[in-house]
Amino acid sequence: TQDEKPLTIAEFEAVAKRKLKQQVWDYYASGAEEQISIKRNTEAFSRLILRPRYMRDVSNIDTSTTLFGKEYAFPIGISPSAMQKLVGGEGEVDVARAAAARGTFMILSSNATCPLEDVIEAAGGPDAHFWFQLYVSQNREKCAKLIKRAEAAGYKALAVTVDTPVLGNRINERKKQLILPPPLSLSNLEDDDPDRAKKPSLNRELLQATNREEADRIQEAARSRGVLNDASLTWHETIPWLRKQTNTMKVVVKGVLTFEDALLAVQHGADAIVVSNHGGRQLDGVASTIEALVEVVDAVKGRVPVLVDGGITRGTDVFKCLALGADFCLVGRPALWGLAYDGSEGVKMVLDVLERELSRTMALSGARNLREIEKGMLGVERRDGF
Ligand code: FNR
Repeated sequence: TQDEKPLTIAEFEAVAKRKLKQQVWDYYASGAEEQISIKRNTEAFSRLILRPRYMRDVSNIDTSTTLFGKEYAFPIGISPSAMQKLVGGEGEVDVARAAAARGTFMILSSNATCPLEDVIEAAGGPDAHFWFQLYVSQNREKCAKLIKRAEAAGYKALAVTVDTPVLGNRINERKKQLILPPPLSLSNLEDDDPDRAKKPSLNRELLQATNREEADRIQEAARSRGVLNDASLTWHETIPWLRKQTNTMKVVVKGVLTFEDALLAVQHGADAIVVSNHGGRQLDGVASTIEALVEVVDAVKGRVPVLVDGGITRGTDVFKCLALGADFCLVGRPALWGLAYDGSEGVKMVLDVLERELSRTMALSGARNLREIEKGMLGVERRDGF
């Protein structure tokens, strides 16, 4: 009924927690090791306070913006997350429908459970300006083929994830083994492997490894099958190599946390940067993404767009990112909570909540459009009580 409809992302999350199987919930909700960075993502938002300006005629609020020449009604897209069919329905296809219906884009994970062609088709085709997230694998031939496939399907950008030379140490996942139940598969990586049916899934293999040597051996084998990121990537080799593989797609670097790497990304020709700590799932103990955003924005100086994800669950969070210089925000888990709540409809509702919260925050802060959102509209909570 109307009364039970979630009104905030936290309420969507609570419903998802009730609905999802325990191990699926654990997989999606958790971060790495002691969960320090995943917590820091949200806490950092709470420490920033708002400094609203009044009497500025906010009767018309415009949340629209442009990214890579495409106009969006609001600056919120969807981060890539793996295996969305585990959450429900048609997984990535449902998320794609919702993003397209709301005029925004999703970044499709390399580890998707739907063929990349089906996903973009569900969004109405290349006009949707979707992006494809890439884990560059050691099997470069296979990787090049995947890039060509994404290009042919009409994806507009490759988001290469740089924060995953090896998988983060996710304790929950290791304890409660998450297995992709057949017939689900990593559609874009494994389906062309004729021997796939005979092999246990990578997840299952990895989770059962009892010692480091065994885990290393399994990861090595998976790398050569092209199912895992290559640990030997470098700025000077990998970014130019990616450039050569595509004539039409932008090359975006996802997972930057320092000004040093932001400068290297720009130097090596990245078209945009996504400041991200992988939702706290990779190196635990890193800065929250809003903290990292500040140094990245300072270093990039507007040369390329800067996007950010991690812990964004409220319109005020989006507002704070924009005030600190982000051009666009992305949400990972909130889209999954919407998917768990009610498939494609649920994801649309999540986007609607965030959009309305952002426009209300703008009105209450005195910013009529995104350009009027300024750093001076933020302050930092003081711990000494003054
Ligand atoms: C991710 N993320 C991720 N990133 C990526 O580049 N490729 C991937 O396949 C995945 N898979 C993935 C699975 C799950 C379960 C989660 C939660 C996250 C990271 C993702 O793109 C994004 O950076 C974070 O999810 C953003 O943080 P929030 O919005 O989830 O807090």
